[in-house]
Amino acid sequence: MKRPILIIIALLICVATPIHSVVAGDAMAGKVKAQLCAACHGAGGNSVNSQFPSLAGQVPGYIAAQLALFKSGSRANPVMAGMAAPLSQTDMQDLDAYFSAQPSILGSISESDVTAAESGGRLYRGGFKALGVAPCMGCHGPAGRGIPPKYPRLAGQHPEYLEQQLRAFKTKTREHSMMNSIAFLLTPQQMREVSLYVSALK
Ligand code: HEC
Ligand code: HEC
Repeated sequence: MKRPILIIIALLICVATPIHSVVAGDAMAGKVKAQLCAACHGAGGNSVNSQFPSLAGQVPGYIAAQLALFKSGSRANPVMAGMAAPLSQTDMQDLDAYFSAQPSILGSISESDVTAAESGGRLYRGGFKALGVAPCMGCHGPAGRGIPPKYPRLAGQHPEYLEQQLRAFKTKTREHSMMNSIAFLLTPQQMREVSLYVSALK
């Protein structure tokens, strides 16, 4: 009788370890702290307003890192600076644990955007060789789900938000060496198309 129990315990440890090794946060504590965020980021971090990014299902580690950037002012946004100011490191990790564990309600695009999204898919998967733009999927994953802890999930995100961030990277309003040099090479049309494509990935 003992052996199956030990195997089950060992399996549980295996399943639990990768998550805990990345995020030390407490998702239950995060749920309580996340009540303040729902007004903009939606219930469970699934935003219904394209002004506000969805946080649900984001890769563990990314949300805590962005909150720290907003707090320090390295990522400039007056609204989020105010929200992040009172948060401790533990709060950030708890919020990260909560939002990264929420299911992302996947995005969809309208019929009229399908052709543009197809063109964006070629850039996403194959890059833009003429200018040396690396394929987005190399860092954001073939299905846009990101790679923890540094490469964010893009699938299911509002296309308007993704496009706005690409513009911010291009003008260095949002600073990040990798994304600044990639976005610098993209045209407004490519930004729109790739945002439509990846937002609708499942
Ligand atoms: C009043 C509205 C509002 C509230 C409340 C709010 N946010 Fe935000 N949040 C925003 C906006 C707007 C942005 C987009 C900022 C930008 O364009 O850089 C954002 C961006 C973010 C991002 C970056 C997402 C990404 O994909 O890079 C994170 C993380 C975040 N918020 C977490 C939180 C958390 C956690 C809370 C609650 C403690 C919260 N926000 C409360 C408006 C809000
Ligand atoms: C070499 C790796 C790499 C490649 C290639 C790459 N990205 Fe990124 N991307 C990142 C990293 C890292 C971040 C997070 C930046 C941060 O921490 O502020 C990011 C952030 C983003 C964001 C902001 C997401 C958010 O939630 O705010 C968008 C949008 C984005 N990338 C789109 C793209 C597109 C489109 C391409 C292809 C044209 C691409 N990326 C290629 C590494 C990469």
